Amino acid sequence: MAKIGNIDVGEFPLLLAPMEDVSDPPFRALCKEQGADVVYTEFISSEGLIRDAAKSVMKLDIYEKERPVGIQIFGANLDSMLKSVEIVEASGPNIIDINFGCPVKKVVSKGAGAGILKDIDLMVSLTKAMVEHTKLPVTVKTRLGWDHDSIKIVEVAERLQDVGCKAIAIHGRTRAQMYKGDADWKPIAEVKNNPRMHIPVFGNGDVNTPERAVEMRDKYGLDGAMIGRASIGYPWFFKEVKHYIKTGTHCAPPTMQERVEAARRHLQMSIDWKGEKLGVFETRRHYTNYFRGIPHFKEYRMKMVTSDDSKDVFAAFDEVLEKFGDFEFSH
Ligand SMILES: Cc1cc2nc3c(=O)[nH]c(=O)nc-3n(C[C@H](O)[C@H](O)[C@H](O)COP(=O)(O)O)c2cc1C
Repeated sequence: MAKIGNIDVGEFPLLLAPMEDVSDPPFRALCKEQGADVVYTEFISSEGLIRDAAKSVMKLDIYEKERPVGIQIFGANLDSMLKSVEIVEASGPNIIDINFGCPVKKVVSKGAGAGILKDIDLMVSLTKAMVEHTKLPVTVKTRLGWDHDSIKIVEVAERLQDVGCKAIAIHGRTRAQMYKGDADWKPIAEVKNNPRMHIPVFGNGDVNTPERAVEMRDKYGLDGAMIGRASIGYPWFFKEVKHYIKTGTHCAPPTMQERVEAARRHLQMSIDWKGEKLGVFETRRHYTNYFRGIPHFKEYRMKMVTSDDSKDVFAAFDEVLEKFGDFEFSH
């Protein structure tokens, strides 16, 4: 059984990775329904939060049904991080997660995200201060290191644990790799194999089939899998992994009815949560995967991703169900 602080997250939990403009409340709810054990918000700027920037504050919203949920924040300034811990706490998450892994330039150049991998002492002291500032469990998501020559993740993870971090999720790439090449899970296994480590060590990066998740558990001995891209437009991935873990067989992929129903609910929840315009716009990125594998689908996908009016998108869903209702999906 893995535990994040006092939160029991089950045996080999599946965690929905924090993903900007993806891991919002509607999508997190869909993933939760399909078996995600822990979900995370996208990263939220501590500087934005303390300035009450509306966009950052909105990202703090959580639905009761998605718990346990972690709110992820990023920043490199101690004061701002501590103030934002208080703001985050007020919105009642179960976990506060620190992003020490984002590789994008605008974040890294300020020393935040993966930028902090160049200053491990600061990474540790920020974590310590945040742990001391809240009663909620603080977790960390990070990468293997800044670049290939500076991988010290075993030592880093142990130091984070020693200052009270309650779980660590490690993406098996360095900052220098961005998203290139394959994720390397060996160094993550080394973190787990450190006899001093007792907090859960979650693996992340390229878990894109149920077999890969099982490999992460059995071959690399990790405590859970954090899943990102494989779930975009495919919240059933969590269910499929769980089924495979339990039975060693693949469950049938979702039917067209289930896909259309999920897409409809996704869009409706998004509109309810962030309004018609943003709701229509930000749900678009999921449709390719919701309907992947259907031949000659372009015409319908275009209808879904070009209209600004939700009525047109809902009508496109109806049309798809009518035309392809009997389509048999394969994995
Ligand atoms: C669209 C997108 C947005 C992301 N945003 C975040 C984020 O806000 N915070 C974070 O820690 N990682 C973020 N990531 C990284 C993912 O959490 C994850 O580490 C990475 O995608 C590797 O896992 P995967 O192979 O399962 O996708 C993002 C990744 C993607 C694809």
